[in-house]
Amino acid sequence: MLNAGQVILLVNPQGKRYLRVLKEGDEIHTHDGKILMDDIAAAGYGKIVETHMGRKYQILKPTVHDLIKGVKRQTQIMYPKEIGYLLLKLGIGPGVRVVESGSGSGGLTTALAYYVGDTGKVYTHEKRPEFYKLVKRNMEWAGLDHRVEQFNLDIEDGFQATDCDALFLDVPNPWEFLHHIPKAVIPGAMCGFLLPTTNQVSELLAALEKASFSDLEVVEIMLRRYKPIAERLRPEDRMVGHTGFLIFARSTEGCDMMPELASRKKRDNRGKPPADKYKVKKEDMIDTPAEALKAAQEAEAKAKAETTVETAVENSAEEPKEPKEGTSAE
Ligand SMILES: C[S@@+](CC[C@H](N)C(=O)[O-])C[C@H]1O[C@@H](n2cnc3c(N)ncnc32)[C@H](O)[C@@H]1O
Repeated sequence: MLNAGQVILLVNPQGKRYLRVLKEGDEIHTHDGKILMDDIAAAGYGKIVETHMGRKYQILKPTVHDLIKGVKRQTQIMYPKEIGYLLLKLGIGPGVRVVESGSGSGGLTTALAYYVGDTGKVYTHEKRPEFYKLVKRNMEWAGLDHRVEQFNLDIEDGFQATDCDALFLDVPNPWEFLHHIPKAVIPGAMCGFLLPTTNQVSELLAALEKASFSDLEVVEIMLRRYKPIAERLRPEDRMVGHTGFLIFARSTEGCDMMPELASRKKRDNRGKPPADKYKVKKEDMIDTPAEALKAAQEAEAKAKAETTVETAVENSAEEPKEPKEGTSAE
């Protein structure tokens, strides 16, 4: 027996799917005729119900993956492959309070609301009124609206939540809002971002490095589907080539600075980068003409000799040593 308010998935033999919230006395209109919701509630999961035209539908319990795929869309929504990883990275689970922007169509909001449970909260910010309304409709449809607080505003004025455990931004210019993050989250909170192009990622990284953030990570998630046929198992012919990059960082404003981290930062910033930082290594060269190879070997030997002298000078400056008798030091 299912209760009113529960979301159910109906699937017919051709794979046609309907996701609906059960309401007492209501009916679902399908391409194959109508089904009484009371019949569905009485039958329960796994059972088959018939439309008034005698067509069969199976009743299933939708997963959060089904819910995300089922939201009504007016914007690009996040793909489940990215959502899965970010939920773990941000530590989303029962009782977590998380800030989000933009809400878009509510694809990510659905997943966040599902996992924070009845004791957690999603504070989602969307500047466009039409998308704000769409997310409201989608959250009600998924039966998750009581876990979401929506704000129809531009985050250039900041976020409407404080002391949250995590934050995620899916907006094209997140670097412009980094200064608002420390007011919205607890010190050390994990923050995530989705961006489609590498130049946006570079811009964000530069801004994160200048502001109070640590533990930076950039990932791209690839998903390859296989045709699930036992005797001819092989990848699908097509795959989604690129969706976006995920960037993560901890907000460190209000955190004590770890001493070893502070000294490492100092050391990393000391002096110029190593001379061979961007040099192509000999073993990486293909089909190098003999002369070019010889020149590369000579340049490498020269750079090595210079580095040895530099290191010797550096070492002697750090730890003055007594010159040994009979060495060429004198
Ligand atoms: C790609 S959509 C987000 C999709 C969403 N993650 C989902 O899964 O459905 C980006 C949204 O960010 C909103 N947005 C962009 N800049 C914003 C800002 N400064 N403040 C609030 N919302 C913003 C846009 O209006 C748009 O709806």
